[in-house]
Amino acid sequence: MKALVVYGSRYGTAAEIAQEVARVIKDEGVEVDLEDARGIKDCDVSPYDLVVVGSGIKIGKWTSKSLKFLKDNRSSLANRKVAIFVSCGAANEESSRAEGQEKYLDEVAAKNLINEPLSTGLFGSVYDPEANHGLMFKMVNRSVRKNLQKQGIDPSKRLDYRDWGEIRSWARGLVDKLKNDS
Ligand SMILES: Cc1cc2nc3c(=O)[nH]c(=O)nc-3n(C[C@H](O)[C@H](O)[C@H](O)COP(=O)(O)O)c2cc1C
Repeated sequence: MKALVVYGSRYGTAAEIAQEVARVIKDEGVEVDLEDARGIKDCDVSPYDLVVVGSGIKIGKWTSKSLKFLKDNRSSLANRKVAIFVSCGAANEESSRAEGQEKYLDEVAAKNLINEPLSTGLFGSVYDPEANHGLMFKMVNRSVRKNLQKQGIDPSKRLDYRDWGEIRSWARGLVDKLKNDS
């Protein structure tokens, strides 16, 4: 069995999730290729039993290259097991998770995949007060900072909202489904 993990990541958060997903899949005995969507030109997905595609979210959007991968391979992905995940701020709080699930996963799947995905993963983000990735990043971090202060959380500290246990068990679940169905 063979799996492909493709990711789109602007600040490295979804990239690290994709790396961990690929590592777990490999540990479960499945051969795996890991690809940054930016490096993909023509991709033949036919050797893969499972294709995992993930992205970070910026202003409501997947990266253009990770979406392009879904669109370019729409018909060939219909014949294999596909799982999608996102890393986003909406996943960090219970009150915004349903909206994140709907906008960044369910709507993207409905629009870009022919069949229902095998599974979807809604994973948290990283708040880094030291990071400097331009004006838009600063503005978003500023509003996150205010929100943290409101919740009584110290915004001078880096916060990693990714639940690695949840991410690993999601990846293991994909392999279980793959093995059970084959
Ligand atoms: C400029 C900017 C815009 C963002 N827009 C959204 C958004 O619309 N919705 C959301 O849930 N998270 C948003 N986030 C949080 C990111 O989705 C989160 O930091 C994610 O982990 C980034 O993934 P990446 O590092 O792989 O690109 C935004 C972050 C930044 C810096």
